[in-house]
Amino acid sequence: MQSHLLLAVLWLAAAAVFLAAGSAVRQPSSNCQRKCGEVDIPYPFGIGPDDCAIMPDFILMCDNTSGGGPFVSFPPDVHHVDVESISLLQGKARMLNRISSSCYNTTSREMQGNYWVLNFTTTPYRFSNTDNKFTVIGCNTLAYIQDYGNKGYTSGCVAICKESDTTDLTDGSCSGIGCCQTAIPKGLQSYLPTFDLDFNTTQIYNFSACSYAVLMDTTDFIFQMSYVTSPDFNRTGGKQPLAIDWAIGNETCDVASKRQDSYACVSRNSQCFNSTNGPGYICNCTKGYEGNPYLQDPEQGCRDIDECKDKDKYPCFGKCSNTEGGFDCFCPPGTQGNATTGPCMTVVTKQVRIAIGIFATVFFVLIILLGLQWIKHNQRIIRHDLISKRDAYFRLHGGQLLIDMMKIENNISFKLYCLEEIELATNNFDDRQIIGEGGQGTVYIGYDLDPDNNPVAIKRCKRLDENRMTEFGQELLILSRVTHKNIVKLLGCSLHFEAPVLVYEFVPNKTLHYLIHVQDEPSKRTLEIRLKIAAESAEALAYLHTLNHPIFHGDVKSANILLGDDLSAKVSDFGCSLIRSAEENLHGVKGTMGYLDPEYLLNFNLNDKSDVYSFGVVLLEIITRRTALSKAKESLISVFKDAVREGRLVELVDPEIANQDNMEAVCQVAALGDKCLAMTGASRPTMSHVAEELRQLVRPVLHGTGELHVGNPFMVHAWSSSSAPYDYTGEETTDYYSQKKKAAMSIEFAR
Ligand SMILES: *[C@@H]1O[C@H](CO)[C@@H](O)[C@H](O)[C@H]1NC(C)=O
Ligand SMILES: *[C@@H]1O[C@H](CO)[C@@H](O)[C@H](O)[C@H]1NC(C)=O
Ligand SMILES: *[C@@H]1O[C@H](CO)[C@@H](O)[C@H](O)[C@H]1NC(C)=O
Ligand SMILES: *[C@@H]1O[C@H](CO)[C@@H](O)[C@H](O)[C@H]1NC(C)=O
Ligand SMILES: *[C@@H]1O[C@H](CO)[C@@H](O)[C@H](O)[C@H]1NC(C)=O
Ligand SMILES: *[C@@H]1O[C@H](CO)[C@@H](O)[C@H](O)[C@H]1NC(C)=O
Ligand SMILES: *[C@@H]1O[C@H](CO)[C@@H](O)[C@H](O)[C@H]1NC(C)=O
Ligand SMILES: *[C@@H]1O[C@H](CO)[C@@H](O)[C@H](O)[C@H]1NC(C)=O
Ligand SMILES: *[C@@H]1O[C@H](CO)[C@@H](O)[C@H](O)[C@H]1NC(C)=O
Ligand SMILES: *[C@@H]1O[C@H](CO)[C@@H](O)[C@H](O)[C@H]1NC(C)=O
Repeated sequence: MQSHLLLAVLWLAAAAVFLAAGSAVRQPSSNCQRKCGEVDIPYPFGIGPDDCAIMPDFILMCDNTSGGGPFVSFPPDVHHVDVESISLLQGKARMLNRISSSCYNTTSREMQGNYWVLNFTTTPYRFSNTDNKFTVIGCNTLAYIQDYGNKGYTSGCVAICKESDTTDLTDGSCSGIGCCQTAIPKGLQSYLPTFDLDFNTTQIYNFSACSYAVLMDTTDFIFQMSYVTSPDFNRTGGKQPLAIDWAIGNETCDVASKRQDSYACVSRNSQCFNSTNGPGYICNCTKGYEGNPYLQDPEQGCRDIDECKDKDKYPCFGKCSNTEGGFDCFCPPGTQGNATTGPCMTVVTKQVRIAIGIFATVFFVLIILLGLQWIKHNQRIIRHDLISKRDAYFRLHGGQLLIDMMKIENNISFKLYCLEEIELATNNFDDRQIIGEGGQGTVYIGYDLDPDNNPVAIKRCKRLDENRMTEFGQELLILSRVTHKNIVKLLGCSLHFEAPVLVYEFVPNKTLHYLIHVQDEPSKRTLEIRLKIAAESAEALAYLHTLNHPIFHGDVKSANILLGDDLSAKVSDFGCSLIRSAEENLHGVKGTMGYLDPEYLLNFNLNDKSDVYSFGVVLLEIITRRTALSKAKESLISVFKDAVREGRLVELVDPEIANQDNMEAVCQVAALGDKCLAMTGASRPTMSHVAEELRQLVRPVLHGTGELHVGNPFMVHAWSSSSAPYDYTGEETTDYYSQKKKAAMSIEFAR
């Protein structure tokens, strides 16, 4: 701590000494004359006896007369030497030296010399040994140069030429012919030229009378031939320039800088240089500074160069920034190159590339995100559309009404399935799950929909008549209330599809149609079995017809009588077909060719007797094992009626059941069928009646008590021609018929 304090005190003391010493250095007053004639007189030089020069040696005289200039005079008042210019930083000056001459005087017939000496001993001036040469001009001359007074140094130079042959003389070449030059040593401060009298111009005076000798600055000197033969060389006022090196004192920088009271390099940022020509030193500004290093004043002393303002001297092709003692020249951001040597080139830097990369990436990601968002949005719209479409279907099919009604009657086991459940159960309506295809729709087997894990039959109805769609839900509800052991149970439905989807209990043993016409095992279709199925079907239809709100099947046929366990009948397929009430005026014909009630075809009025008519055809199928329409599109009805009329019914009976035990029952069935097939609905029996008769038949057959009545009146009964058979070709299942077609059909059937 104490040592620090001591150091600080010492440092302060040193600084104070330095400052005191600095201020003690001689500085010129501001009103000194700094110009004489055309010549600048910078400090340390000065004019006059005052404080204008650094020391008496640097005082210059000034010739105030017009055209005059500064001069030095050593020793004082002996002769003066003109000063042409002073170069402050180089430590040089240019003075004018008098030319010494030696001429032949024709009058006195002697050589007449004119010698000029210079004695700069004890002054700051030395003859520059680099710029100056002792130059002798003449045609027969030897001149000497001597150290004036000291006589320590002597040199000489001979210039000769032939009077008769001046071709040796060459302009510009000072090489002994008419001109001669010799160098001088360093530190020469005084000089005395002399001519050797043994070399004289006595013989050649009318050609070259004078010889000249002078110590001069030869950097700009060019020898001319005329200098030899004429006084041209002396025409510059008898003087030639002389290069002078000057220096401060006679000490080196190291020594001088320690003597603060007399050290000349006082400017901040100044630098000391040993004189290259003799003792002493000169001052200079350090690099990057300009001004007068001998002046303490910061304004006039060495000050920072603003290099950026001098593009010629300090070239910079980029951005320039001045610094203390120097400057920065650099390429602005975004460019590259060396601004000090060439222009900056705009380039994509790594950062810019990275920036561009980042920007591009961000942009790309944004686009992708936007795209994804857009796709999502679209999907949402599509999904929303789908959902709203499904909702629309739901409403269209009377779904809401159905739900409302289901709320009121809460004991119904009817279920509304949602879309996903149905799609899952049918594996999206996979073709491999199709178990049946009919006029009203396609039936799929469905799994995992029933709580007891039983398979279900899922029926996708064909498109409904739009006019009837809203009633559909309501009608379904009615159907759902139908519970009969011989009717396929409707478990539920889904109204979310374009056309309704109905879910039924699954019936495993195919159809009556399959049993009779397709499979080839007679033991499975004995008369007992056939009658039992017929009886159960008739009961089911009778049940439907006797409901409070009667239901007419509309498409009774063997293919619509399914077979459950124990080959029990299961009447099916009245869901998609519309539930016809007597008042309803239908716009289309439903049903299957070969089973269609001709009355219905005439007035399109479906009623219970239409079902009875169709069931009559089923009865014929049972006993004949012939299809309702043969391959040749021949109607079973007409075949039957023809056979009855011609008494050939026995030929029609299926050989599998045509034995004596069965014959009576077969004939009764035939008679029942014939009644059912009466042309007018009114003359047909009701379904209940048919069911009752069949039930009566089943029992004796089942118990083996039936006997064949050979004289069965039915077998000889002749048919009235009123029951004219009809027959027409067309598609198996009819669909919608226009009024025009209906008219045409009416005509056809009226024949
Ligand atoms: C010329 O200069 C000298 C000093 O060198 C001075 O003494 C003198 O008065 C000056 N003359 C004129 C006319 O200024
Ligand atoms: C002094 O500095 C100037 C400019 O920097 C330079 O031209 C000159 O040669 C220097 N003088 C010496 C003796 O170094
Ligand atoms: C030549 O010498 C004579 C006599 O000594 C002198 O009068 C004359 O001025 C001289 N001529 C020249 C040009 O010096
Ligand atoms: C010139 O030199 C010759 C000898 O070379 C000499 O005899 C003669 O006297 C000299 N002339 C003069 C004037 O010195
Ligand atoms: C040259 O000048 C110095 C100082 O002024 C003097 O001492 C010396 O004697 C002079 N030399 C001659 C030869 O006059
Ligand atoms: C020069 O002088 C010589 C004799 O010294 C003479 O013969 C010659 O004619 C002179 N030439 C001229 C040009 O005067
Ligand atoms: C040289 O010129 C100067 C000045 O004009 C003059 O005084 C001197 O006599 C001339 N010398 C010669 C040899 O002509
Ligand atoms: C240097 O100059 C000083 C005066 O400026 C003088 O006293 C001293 O003797 C000189 N020294 C030398 C070695 O010339
Ligand atoms: C000046 O000269 C001395 C002695 O020759 C030398 O030691 C010193 O380094 C020189 N100084 C500079 C600045 O050149
Ligand atoms: C520019 O060129 C200069 C001169 O060739 C060289 O000194 C400098 O180091 C260069 N600068 C850069 C940044 O390369």
